[in-house]
Amino acid sequence: MGFFFRFLLLLCIFAAGTAIEAQQSHRRRTQIRDLTTSEQDSLETQFSSKPDSIPPTTFFEITRPIFLPPNAVRHSTLVLQHDFGYTYGKPAVTASYTPPSNIVPAKIVLEWSATCKGRQYDRIFGIWVAGVEILRSCTAEPTSTGIIWNVKKDVTRYHSLLSKKQTMSVYLANIVDTKYTGVYHVNVSIHFYYAEKDGGSLRSVEDQSPPGFGAPADLILPISRNPPLNDGLWFLVMNSTDIESKNVTIPANTYRAVLEIYISYHSSDEFWYLNPPNSYISSNNLTGTPGNGPFREVKASIDGNLVGVVWPFTVIYTGGIDPLLWRPISGIGSFDLPTYDIEITPFLGKLLNGKPHRFGFSVTNALDVWYIDANLHLWIDKNSKQTTGSLIRTKPTTPTVISSLTPNSKSGDGLDGSFSTTAWRELSSTGWVNSSHGNITTEYYQNLNYTNLMVFTANGTTQQVNQTIDSNWGVKTKNYSLQVFQRFPLYLLDGTENVDKHQYTAISNISFGFNEKRYVGGKLVSGVENNQNGDAVMIVEGNIVKEGVGATDQKYFYENRINGCYSRIVSSRNYSILHDDEGTMCRSWDLRRTLLQR
Ligand SMILES: *[C@@H]1O[C@H](CO)[C@@H](O)[C@H](O)[C@H]1NC(C)=O
Ligand SMILES: *[C@@H]1O[C@H](CO)[C@@H](O)[C@H](O)[C@H]1NC(C)=O
Ligand SMILES: *[C@@H]1O[C@H](CO)[C@@H](O)[C@H](O)[C@H]1NC(C)=O
Ligand SMILES: *[C@@H]1O[C@H](CO)[C@@H](O)[C@H](O)[C@H]1NC(C)=O
Ligand SMILES: *[C@@H]1O[C@H](CO)[C@@H](O)[C@H](O)[C@H]1NC(C)=O
Ligand SMILES: *[C@@H]1O[C@H](CO)[C@@H](O)[C@H](O)[C@H]1NC(C)=O
Ligand SMILES: *[C@@H]1O[C@H](CO)[C@@H](O)[C@H](O)[C@H]1NC(C)=O
Ligand SMILES: *[C@@H]1O[C@H](CO)[C@@H](O)[C@H](O)[C@H]1NC(C)=O
Ligand SMILES: *[C@@H]1O[C@H](CO)[C@@H](O)[C@H](O)[C@H]1NC(C)=O
Ligand SMILES: *[C@@H]1O[C@H](CO)[C@@H](O)[C@H](O)[C@H]1NC(C)=O
Ligand SMILES: *[C@@H]1O[C@H](CO)[C@@H](O)[C@H](O)[C@H]1NC(C)=O
Ligand SMILES: *[C@@H]1O[C@H](CO)[C@@H](O)[C@H](O)[C@H]1NC(C)=O
Repeated sequence: MGFFFRFLLLLCIFAAGTAIEAQQSHRRRTQIRDLTTSEQDSLETQFSSKPDSIPPTTFFEITRPIFLPPNAVRHSTLVLQHDFGYTYGKPAVTASYTPPSNIVPAKIVLEWSATCKGRQYDRIFGIWVAGVEILRSCTAEPTSTGIIWNVKKDVTRYHSLLSKKQTMSVYLANIVDTKYTGVYHVNVSIHFYYAEKDGGSLRSVEDQSPPGFGAPADLILPISRNPPLNDGLWFLVMNSTDIESKNVTIPANTYRAVLEIYISYHSSDEFWYLNPPNSYISSNNLTGTPGNGPFREVKASIDGNLVGVVWPFTVIYTGGIDPLLWRPISGIGSFDLPTYDIEITPFLGKLLNGKPHRFGFSVTNALDVWYIDANLHLWIDKNSKQTTGSLIRTKPTTPTVISSLTPNSKSGDGLDGSFSTTAWRELSSTGWVNSSHGNITTEYYQNLNYTNLMVFTANGTTQQVNQTIDSNWGVKTKNYSLQVFQRFPLYLLDGTENVDKHQYTAISNISFGFNEKRYVGGKLVSGVENNQNGDAVMIVEGNIVKEGVGATDQKYFYENRINGCYSRIVSSRNYSILHDDEGTMCRSWDLRRTLLQR
């Protein structure tokens, strides 16, 4: 019993059929259920003396407000209302959707609102419209007195899709039985906001020429699995050699294309950034511990050629590390997982021949399982039937991954050691497309750096991980440039102490963040600094968590050149909010300089 044991216990239960079966056939994994169950038992005990009249706790993820035009008129449609009971292994729930009018809205917002009471895991789910994914999310874990939560997402970029009658699908694989009683009661609504003045504008803060930039795509094609399915529409990437793909034909008069990728990781790779190298696992006889080291790269390809990569942000689901950390402030990205855009305009020349082309996804070092799908956003030339183009050059250097192992291998200390993994990649593609907008040459680039330092001490019962992902990507044309700088830092200290036959104490200390700045033409258009720190302790006896408390602090700053600054500073402890200050505090943004100086 040690660190690895505990980590596995707190895994999110995922939706894939294969994964559930694997879990049940595996001793360590089977115990995942037991601890989470008893942990929830103990929480139930803790609250069971309270009267039924207790209002449900509101859980939330901190995000920025969705900025609306002044005096906007709202038209709302409740698209789907469903109670997700035993939905595991069943087809997605569907509903038909009709847009409220033909008028061009200023904003479109998707709203998920849900309640749940009882005992249940964190469940991953997805919402698709005509096969195009518009939200990937994780449910909040309920309590015996009930919880309520709400997710609002700006889905204006899906305007072309949402302005037509469509079918919406929601897949949330829940299991309800005598032990796991939580049924998720869900409403999904879509709100259209119309500007007071006529002719609402869909353009974003990145609004700048050239054509196609700043405004939503004219057509969005799904790169997901087609129903009927007894599962989500996402592809399941099971291992490092698995390439999941779909053939897609695009209109011959397309002049810009962006691939938007949805990603979530589960089971053996739920905590990929904590996975030790296989050498450590085999030399310490830790069979069953997920390995392959802590580096992962999602690769997107067209007809087998690499077009872009994602070094994903470390989303921690609501049952992850220590569930007490995420009540009521949920982890960054957990209710609205980030998506990643890859500009594929330079490759359009190869795709305009009216023939199907294979869009593929794979994950370097993957263990089961990654849920991946994508949306192809296309801008269509209304003034011509055929655009033409050609790739000028690509520079897909393979990532250089350096891993080193420094075991502290004195006798008796076999489980101690430290590992440093660093990786970097530079990738770029340049191509021209001739349309009625002119002959435009587009360059897309990605520069990525990754470091992970993993240290095991106290005979392997304590793990410390420091990881940073720096990503700089952008798009350039003759008279336009978009540059995005992202930094995803993560620090985690996790340990088990006082281990004896009957009980142990588990402590966690975490700090992680999602930081991003966007520049157009060299000028800052938007920035976000979003960081969480958490501390949690739980004493586990046998299979019962006897005591436990989690505390979380979060600082959120957002700024864009139209709406100004937004800030929110929140802290919670033991299910209660200690303070919550929302305001318009501005940051002196120096992230870009910091990134450039590294
Ligand atoms: C869903 O909508 C119905 C009808 O408007 C409402 O009674 C119910 O409280 C809503 N449930 C949630 C979880 O928002
Ligand atoms: C940039 O070039 C495009 C295409 O030639 C043109 O339509 C647009 O107006 C130009 N934008 C600026 C800011 O010059
Ligand atoms: C990887 O996963 C694919 C898809 O499930 C499977 O066909 C293949 O056998 C797996 N390869 C290995 C080496 O396990
Ligand atoms: C996609 O097309 C290729 C040939 O272009 C073919 O070999 C492959 O089987 C197709 N894949 C699917 C999933 O249809
Ligand atoms: C490794 O673990 C297995 C099963 O627990 C055990 O049978 C074996 O003796 C162990 N080997 C070493 C070298 O500790
Ligand atoms: C370290 O842990 C291993 C495996 O749990 C155990 O066999 C060994 O006795 C421990 N060593 C010390 C010095 O505690
Ligand atoms: C470029 O595209 C325009 C608009 O479709 C077309 O009129 C023109 O002939 C094209 N130029 C060339 C050299 O193909
Ligand atoms: C578009 O511009 C590129 C680069 O300048 C050039 O090589 C190509 O021939 C042009 N295409 C057309 C259709 O004019
Ligand atoms: C790891 O991160 C922690 C917390 O940010 C910091 O105190 C520590 O110095 C870092 N360690 C290394 C080796 O970078
Ligand atoms: C990655 O590191 C290299 C070398 O230190 C640096 O030049 C580059 O700017 C870094 N890229 C990012 C995105 O931080
Ligand atoms: C854990 O984090 C808190 C701040 O959130 C800090 O005060 C404390 O010293 C940390 N504990 C350890 C063991 O690193
Ligand atoms: C957490 O809150 C509960 C209920 O309010 C209380 O009974 C318990 O003592 C608190 N625990 C800690 C460690 O503050």
